[in-house]
Amino acid sequence: MSVNQVPSFKAGKWPENVGIVALDIYFPSTCVNQTALETHDGASGGKYTIGLGQLNMGFCSDCEDINSLCLSVVQSLMDKTGVSYSDIGRLEVGTETILDKSKSTKTVLMQLFAASGNSAVEGIDTTNACYGGTQALFNAVSWVESSSWDGRFALVVAGDIAVYASGPARPTGGAGAVAMLVGPNAPLVLERGLRGVHMEHVYDFYKPNLESEYAVVDGKLSIQCYLTALDKCYQLYSQRASTNDKTFTLDDGDFFIFHSPFTKLVIKSLARLKLNDFLRSPSPEATGCYAGLESVVGRSLESTVGDRDVEKLMLKNSNVECQAKTEPSLLLGREVGNMYTASLYGGLVSLLASAKRDALVDKRVVLFSYGSGLASSMYSLKVTSNLEDLFRLMAPVADVPQRLSNREVVEPAKFEAIMKLREDTHHLAPYTPVGDNSKLFPGTYYLASVDDKYRRVYKRVAPSNGGAVGSGLKSTLAQIVSLSNGTD
Ligand code: ACO
Repeated sequence: MSVNQVPSFKAGKWPENVGIVALDIYFPSTCVNQTALETHDGASGGKYTIGLGQLNMGFCSDCEDINSLCLSVVQSLMDKTGVSYSDIGRLEVGTETILDKSKSTKTVLMQLFAASGNSAVEGIDTTNACYGGTQALFNAVSWVESSSWDGRFALVVAGDIAVYASGPARPTGGAGAVAMLVGPNAPLVLERGLRGVHMEHVYDFYKPNLESEYAVVDGKLSIQCYLTALDKCYQLYSQRASTNDKTFTLDDGDFFIFHSPFTKLVIKSLARLKLNDFLRSPSPEATGCYAGLESVVGRSLESTVGDRDVEKLMLKNSNVECQAKTEPSLLLGREVGNMYTASLYGGLVSLLASAKRDALVDKRVVLFSYGSGLASSMYSLKVTSNLEDLFRLMAPVADVPQRLSNREVVEPAKFEAIMKLREDTHHLAPYTPVGDNSKLFPGTYYLASVDDKYRRVYKRVAPSNGGAVGSGLKSTLAQIVSLSNGTD
């Protein structure tokens, strides 16, 4: 399909089953080990690893920025799927890593489209802490479902570099970007009408100082806001997902994925959903699956936020569900850390990279997205029952465990020196990065220079296979669009 070709929609042929058709992730090739970081920081042994639930933390040197991360992941997804840049009609970027108060990352990504001649690409950047990627995805899905759709794919990119000033928040950093191709007849369909949303004005984490990469953060408040938003979204989502005969509970979702600032909070979140189910159950004490929770009967949900005793009881009670429904989504959260907007979608990638294909067929995946400030929502994806489509969805991320183990683990002292370098050179112009780009993964884009007018130039490390095209995937993707256009 070319840019100039106006698709002819047949009456009653509006796109159905709109959702994620393919996706890929980029994370840095360097990381620091959290046990080593505990020792280096003088933190008590186990604080970052057991207390926060982190194993390693991905980070970038000065030769990567948000634009290069997004360039890397988009090119990788396009190479792997073989989709042409001409077949993209909308490009949305969700990020809170701001390099420019005017020029969007989306426009930087348009460099990749130049050779195709396609400049007819709607969409722009969306920002609110870790939530922008989810809003970008919702925008893309709405476009495909709308009268404005021109028959082409939408591309959604969620990416961030999460760095904190040295101190207790620093081990909850990370970096990464996820790119998602959105279209009709998708193997991961956004379930229509099933969305719980909560938005509120609060200063839990924000970035008022544009000279710095670091957030102003009230860690304890941010956790309280996260868990309260989770309650609100779950209440609304489950109201909508309930039927006359059955109230929605944890049993009605096969997988639950959460925004992951650190994975201990995710495990507590799953426990919190079970607490919601318990407290609204008409006769909770009579239900076998809530054993040991007698002391919580009659408590209001609000009164339990921050209650350590209730939290401990719920963690114990929800362990089985957590292992089955949430654990498979924790790989990248533990290994890379918080990727802000990309964190929730890193959870989805983890599920696709670690679960068996048969375990995913026809399942419901419930997602909770949280961005400080605050914006949050819960929604769900229905996985296809078509094994071939599912295989093609999983193919681009199948090598994630291998990519994780190919990373260079650097000493905390070197990590700290690189954080200092990023601090000192942030927004410097003219500037030539000094970070070692020979350590980047094949196919990675990097920042080559910033000129005296702050204009950034990017270069690419040679891809290992010349940017192989997945021809099988390409033909399926072409079919997905042509079917919905009625051109088949
Ligand atoms: N062994 C095992 N566990 C330990 C140890 C140890 N030696 N030491 C401490 N812990 C536990 C603590 O008990 C605590 O767990 P708990 O809350 O389950 O009891 C955990 O480790 C963390 O310890 P704290 O003392 O609470 O940590 P601190 O207050 O120093 O920092 C925080 C944690 C607030 C999360 C900080 O890292 C932060 O501000 N991060 C950024 C904000 C954030 O991520 N917010 C989440 C939502 S908003 C967002 O996504 C950005």
